Amino acid sequence: LIAQFTPKSLAGKRLLVTAGPTFEAIDPVRGITNRSSGKMGFAIAQAAQEAGAEVTLISGPVALPTPRNVARIDVQSAQQMLDAALLHADAADIFIATAAVADWRPANSAEHKIKKTEGQATPALHFIENPDILATIAKTPAAASGKLYCVGFAAESDNLIEYASAKRKRKGIPLLVGNIGPNTFGQDDNILTIFDEQGHQQLPKASKRVLAKQLLQEIALRLQPAH
Ligand code: CTP
Ligand code: CA
Repeated sequence: LIAQFTPKSLAGKRLLVTAGPTFEAIDPVRGITNRSSGKMGFAIAQAAQEAGAEVTLISGPVALPTPRNVARIDVQSAQQMLDAALLHADAADIFIATAAVADWRPANSAEHKIKKTEGQATPALHFIENPDILATIAKTPAAASGKLYCVGFAAESDNLIEYASAKRKRKGIPLLVGNIGPNTFGQDDNILTIFDEQGHQQLPKASKRVLAKQLLQEIALRLQPAH
């Protein structure tokens, strides 16, 4: 009964989260994508909703059920994910980018299926860079003024401390969550290290559900007090 009277840590907050991979079309039946199950982002969306937040979850193609009382927007490409994020960022208090966004997309996606023709050379793909969703949101007036708190994720294969702290600064965000991949892809457990202006701190190995709660707790502590 006591719990009923304990204020939830994210009551009255609006949270926007990106999750899963993006899919960049080569032709109507083929494309390139990144490895991501979406589990971390969906766990964060669920934990934030349970902590009292109003949650919008922008997801690339994943095979996961929508958490209860979470508004879900499904997208395919990085450009679609950016458009959806820009649409919702102004109203949000927290933006958490867990999506594994494809850094490049095919410069031209074919309108018709590319056919194999005997004796012909294999197709060559030309790539162009995708927009950086997190860096773009971090530059909006809402984020620059501190009203919108932006959090990034980084999976690094090595040199986590060095790469992740540099990445946090490069993206212009107050908090970045790092982990050593790709061993965590699709797993239920993870180890997270959180980087902020002060330095870094480890959240020891736990389920993505437990880590999501701990991370949201850390974010709640860092939010500007409401005026
Ligand atoms: N991100 C994004 N849009 C992109 C690329 C990355 O929003 N086009 C976000 C991810 O969701 C994540 C953070 O930026 O929160 C870091 O992603 P990462 O791929 O580690 O960073 P990059 O700047 O793409 O650097 P790298 O060369 O290591 O891939
Ligand atoms: Ca990248």
